[in-house]
Amino acid sequence: MPQRPYVIDEMISAKQIAARIEELAGEIRHEFADTDKLVVVGLLRGSFVFIADLVRELDLPVEVDFLEASSYGNATESSREVRILKDLRGEIAGRDVLVVEDIVDTGYTLSHVKHLLDGRQPRKMKIIALLDKPARREVEMQADWTGFTIPDEFVVGYGIDFAQRNRNLPFIGKVRFTD
Ligand code: IMP
Repeated sequence: MPQRPYVIDEMISAKQIAARIEELAGEIRHEFADTDKLVVVGLLRGSFVFIADLVRELDLPVEVDFLEASSYGNATESSREVRILKDLRGEIAGRDVLVVEDIVDTGYTLSHVKHLLDGRQPRKMKIIALLDKPARREVEMQADWTGFTIPDEFVVGYGIDFAQRNRNLPFIGKVRFTD
């Protein structure tokens, strides 16, 4: 598919993201203070930068695992079907789990993943999402912690892509088409 020309306007700076992660890490540390070893589950691929920064701020014993679910193709449209492309390597039964997501958009991905992981009977499971677009929600889904609530814009950077591009931007920017 040919790429429409676009520019990226900065929306949330690297500095703002770092400051927010520091705050959130404090709350998470408090929530899981009595946990032996927290299982931090990153949802691939969009959360890989966020999870890397978050775990380094947590200062808790953690195990890191990843799960990949798909709900997006190479377009700005969400598809409704959620498929698990890569499952966790470890068991979570009886464990304390923190699920790390990049964006809650329609809510389908997280609600599917939450249901799946709930079924494995963790002792406690909490969800953190870097970004939330509540205007786009189609199913009820609320993360326990949210980095930033944003308007209905297509965003990239800090791990988040547009057709597999721009994940390596250090900030969050919104996509603006120029054609
Ligand atoms: P949901 O199932 O509609 O909530 O979709 C969540 C997933 O869609 C996120 O994990 C992202 O991978 C992707 N997504 C949603 N909004 C955006 C966006 O603005 N830019 C890039 N990816 C997005």
